[in-house]
Amino acid sequence: MNKFSTFCITILIVSLSCKDAPRHPGEITYQTYCTGCHGAKMQGGLAAPLIKTEWLYGRERNSMVSNTRFGIPGTEMIAWGLTLSNEQINDVIDYIVESQDLPPQADRPIPERIKTEDYTLKVEKLAQGISKPWGIEFVDANTALISEGTGGLRWLINNELDPEPIRGLPETYSPSRSAGMMDLALDPDYVSNGWVYLSYSFTEDSLKTAQSAGMTKIVRARIKDHEWVDQQTLFEAPDSLRIKNGNRWGCRLFFDRDGYFYFTIGDMAQGDFSQDLGKPVGKVFRINANGSIPEDNPFRDVPGALPAIYSLGNRNVQGITQDPTTGTIWMTEHGPMGGDELNILKKGTNYGWPVVTYGIDYSGKAVSDKTALEGMEPPITYWTPSIAVCPIEFCSSPLFPKWSNNLFVGALAHEEIRRLVVENETVTSQEVFLKGFGRVRDIKISPDGAIYVLLNEPDVVLRLTPE
Ligand code: HEC
Repeated sequence: MNKFSTFCITILIVSLSCKDAPRHPGEITYQTYCTGCHGAKMQGGLAAPLIKTEWLYGRERNSMVSNTRFGIPGTEMIAWGLTLSNEQINDVIDYIVESQDLPPQADRPIPERIKTEDYTLKVEKLAQGISKPWGIEFVDANTALISEGTGGLRWLINNELDPEPIRGLPETYSPSRSAGMMDLALDPDYVSNGWVYLSYSFTEDSLKTAQSAGMTKIVRARIKDHEWVDQQTLFEAPDSLRIKNGNRWGCRLFFDRDGYFYFTIGDMAQGDFSQDLGKPVGKVFRINANGSIPEDNPFRDVPGALPAIYSLGNRNVQGITQDPTTGTIWMTEHGPMGGDELNILKKGTNYGWPVVTYGIDYSGKAVSDKTALEGMEPPITYWTPSIAVCPIEFCSSPLFPKWSNNLFVGALAHEEIRRLVVENETVTSQEVFLKGFGRVRDIKISPDGAIYVLLNEPDVVLRLTPE
């Protein structure tokens, strides 16, 4: 068979199979409304391509749906929700997702070097085989402990994952993606007392269904020969305050320089409870390391208030850290759709959720017509559309003198790190790096000055050093 007839037969087969293949319902919507800017084959044109690994506004289906429904402020991408039905939007996003002819997430190659404004970063991939790494804490430069969202706790020794997991950990309850084992912290006197602090989603119901009432729980224990021992409960809500169908559980853990211990619980989809001092959701808490309540906690003497509460009106705080120079405590908080916030944590402060917010809800309604109100603290800065802010960490590392005291903010949905230059509690510039390689779950500077980044999807720990 000569080349020409092979060509003709190929054309024939292709056209026959095209004729037979039913068109994707989303394809018609795509061809009618989207090709003008994104190209007939999603290759891009006036606007960005839609077949790619590096999504500008979120690679997750949810983000794509909301970007399409509500538009992207400041760009030509309009709110298609005014023209298209929810079904049409779902179909067109399915069509875009199914058209991705790319390696699965786990295979996304992470480069060995990444250029930033000031440094070329060497990227080492550690802890392959870890499962949804959530939080990391360093005992010393060669030893770190990592919590796994799926319920585990693992040592990282000389940058190698210890094959032996910690046994005897409390059982987690995971009715939603945001639940499971969350953060860990080491006692400021860990070397002498060995206390390790853990947060996880908990239910007493042995059936563990979505209808079980659950709440974030905080415990501490010691690790002896890979065994979790001596466990004590530091915070646990009574059954009457637990929530069914829980989502948005918090929960970052953090010790400040004075030895106070902080933890965060998200609104668990009960926005209004965030304003109620009798309810544990939508709050930041402060306790002593042994679980007792500090003398000067702001709501300690308020009748009906939970005495551990330190601030309220917090939708879902995912990052909390202290400025090593000034001692100011900073935190990141998930907005609904739009309105991810960067705040400074102050005693007894109301951060406004859901009364004031820059976000819109998943239904498309503005959560509130107010972005500011007397008595409610406005954010230092906010991100719309939401990048899904998560960890924050100040850069204090001899390896990165040009980044001294810059603030790293990691993002889940937008899969990126932002380096914020902060002057007098104002963000003066932001640089995005490590974009599109995975959801950034935690960032820590190790005692040797390297930046450790915990990624989810793919699940890996990265060690960044300047070249
Ligand atoms: C008038 C031009 C225009 C049309 C028509 C349009 N878009 Fe967009 N779209 C944009 C622009 C501009 C952006 C922002 C990215 C960029 O600058 O290219 C964008 C971004 C997006 C994104 C986010 C991309 C990312 O990287 O995160 C998605 C998803 C998207 N569009 C889907 C659609 C769908 C679905 C349709 C059809 C219903 C559509 N767009 C029609 C202009 C358009």
